[in-house]
Amino acid sequence: MGERRHRIAVIAGDGIGPEVTAQALKSMEAAAARCGFTFEANRYDLGGERYLATGEVLPDSVEEELAGHDAILLGAVGTPDVPPGVLERGLLLRLRFDFELYVNLRPVKLFPGVPTPIAGLTPERCDMLVARENTEGPYAGTGGTLRKGTAAEVAMQDSVNTRFGVERIVRFGFEQALARRRRLALGHKTNVLIHSGGLWHRTVYELAEQYPDVEVDYAHVDAMCLYMVNSPEQFDVIVTDNLFGDIITDLGAAIQGGMGLAASGNLNPERNYPSLFEPVHGSAPDITGRGWANPVAAVLSAAMCLSHLGENEAAEAVEDAAAAVLPTMEAMAGPGMGGTTDSLGDRIAEAVAGG
Ligand code: NAI
Ligand code: MG
Repeated sequence: MGERRHRIAVIAGDGIGPEVTAQALKSMEAAAARCGFTFEANRYDLGGERYLATGEVLPDSVEEELAGHDAILLGAVGTPDVPPGVLERGLLLRLRFDFELYVNLRPVKLFPGVPTPIAGLTPERCDMLVARENTEGPYAGTGGTLRKGTAAEVAMQDSVNTRFGVERIVRFGFEQALARRRRLALGHKTNVLIHSGGLWHRTVYELAEQYPDVEVDYAHVDAMCLYMVNSPEQFDVIVTDNLFGDIITDLGAAIQGGMGLAASGNLNPERNYPSLFEPVHGSAPDITGRGWANPVAAVLSAAMCLSHLGENEAAEAVEDAAAAVLPTMEAMAGPGMGGTTDSLGDRIAEAVAGG
């Protein structure tokens, strides 16, 4: 058997990004030692600080280098002085579009011992997987502005939905459902968004014929928010469009215990490009430098990265280690967390090594 070696690009980013990414890397190193693979972590200095210093967001040459990796680990980007949209469109969305990261995969899982704002909710009742379309919808960037800044301003922000784009994310959702509890729910707003909703709905029910073992369901996305809170046990895999997915996964993060726990993967399932793994949260400038950032979301994102690289034993070890530390944390974020970002990262890495 040949040596298993992975090339990982690391964009630690701004604010708490570097703080939590350091903990994710500790866990990956412990997992590598335990499971017998190696990886190189190549750091890329991108984000708000770089933009403010040089005006650069993502130079073409850097994007080319990123493309040569097996995966990308990202902390968070954004500083208060960077105008909105610069990093989102210029870095995050650009990588999603250019690297065809058409799946934004966000598990919504309540781990044992984690306080949830939903009274009486138990881990058995909360294990959902949201597969959000990540390259189209209202985030495609089409539209325009007329007579900007005047009383007669016109703003158009189109939603782009292609059969090709919808079909590939829906198929991914069905495949995930097959490997889980075999249920797929589409969230949309077909009663109002008849054009895009119609395409999504038809695509789901047409593909369903190829997946007779998967039970298919549909909910209007507003009602879905209600069900996710009242009866999350009815959901296994949820598939939805870019904007709806962005919104319902923040709700999911709240249900599972907060932003400090929510992990995500931006996937190119065909592996033509590296997939990118990041916590759902941002750079949290309000707590940067205090040791208050919960590292678990970044660590769980690293576990998703390991799973994507085929290191399933390592992925499981890292997720289990994070899960084992969670019940020892008094609060899921902030000063009452039962340790600092760094000390919690150490405890998780020790659990990976010793487990
Ligand atoms: P945010 O997620 O950074 O913070 C929201 C709230 O959650 C803050 O009170 C923060 O302290 C808290 N929080 C976030 N992560 C935490 C953690 N791991 N542990 C403990 N508390 C945590 O979102 P916000 O404030 O809207 O954005 C701040 C900056 O981050 C902005 O520049 C924004 O553009 C950027 N951002 C970047 C993202 C990315 O890189 N993918 C995603 C979201 C926001
Ligand atoms: Mg979001």
